[in-house]
Amino acid sequence: MSFEAIADGLRARLDGRVLTNAPLGPFTTFRVGGPADVLVEAESERDLMQLSEYAKDAPVAIVGRGSNLLVSDDGFRGVAVRLGRAFRHHTSIDGGLRFGGAVYLPAAARLTARLGLGGFEFAAEIPATFGGAVRMNAGAHDRSMADVLIEATVIDLESGNRRQLRNEDLGYAYRQSSLLPGDVVTEGDVRLERDDAAKVADRIAAHLRWRRENQPPGRSAGSVFKNPNGDSAGRLIDAAGGKGLRVGAAEVSDVHANFIVAGPNATASDVWTLIWKIHRLVLDATGVELEPEVRFLGSFV
Ligand code: EPU
Repeated sequence: MSFEAIADGLRARLDGRVLTNAPLGPFTTFRVGGPADVLVEAESERDLMQLSEYAKDAPVAIVGRGSNLLVSDDGFRGVAVRLGRAFRHHTSIDGGLRFGGAVYLPAAARLTARLGLGGFEFAAEIPATFGGAVRMNAGAHDRSMADVLIEATVIDLESGNRRQLRNEDLGYAYRQSSLLPGDVVTEGDVRLERDDAAKVADRIAAHLRWRRENQPPGRSAGSVFKNPNGDSAGRLIDAAGGKGLRVGAAEVSDVHANFIVAGPNATASDVWTLIWKIHRLVLDATGVELEPEVRFLGSFV
């Protein structure tokens, strides 16, 4: 079936928007990369189930805030899925809050301050969706989603099955979970503690200040590589002389060596080539094989 036909079929079945040949760059923080054949903005769990049934044979990729994603210049031959506005909700629960998968983490953190709930301050500096953060166990300052998540609702786009997974079912480790690429986190519950609203707000402000002082502004995906056990990728890249390395319009940041900043004319290929150049540099200098934290979508050569 052609992608146009898949898109038409999906339009007939889903509440959310269905676009063809839709640029994905604007949905990533690098802001580079080509189009998806089809882009679906799901507006209900039913949309996701319909999608899994109807587009079963097409490659499917889930795109959150795109703060950890590099899309190939050739784009993605398949169906990219985003969670629409309907997934940007929150509710109070006993001992915490329930967030929809599309909630922006910094907004969620600000909300906890307004409500006088402590424990989610670290999320203020992570430019991710709630669902994306649950999936990759996003974190900052020695706290991560695994420390606060009670349970999450997940729809598997391969089978259309809906599962309720408890924290201990998620296989959490540093920046990883056992969720599969086709698993969409539609909502989740986090455990929070009553606290003084002003104190929570102060801790959030301190996080944001730290980030401004230690991480570069501009188009980046945060840390490019995971930290190797007991060390810091940024420190290793810096010590190997990586700061200022450049490919085309992509550059290793002078502020933090584990950040690649994409200039206005950067391509995904610039970023990709620079990532592997850094990888080689650190391997040759130290014998450490850095593992990318950034996910790749589409084909790269
Ligand atoms: N360092 C250098 N040179 C650099 C950068 C860092 O020598 O260019 C040194 C620092 O001086 C420090 C050490 O490396 O002694 C660690 O650096 P930093 O405190 O910046 O933390 P990080 O390990 O590089 C991690 C997370 C960040 C998170 C910060 C703060 C990873 C891969 N990165 O960075 O997460 O914001 O801690 O909690 O785990 C992300 O995952 O995208 C991300 C930005």
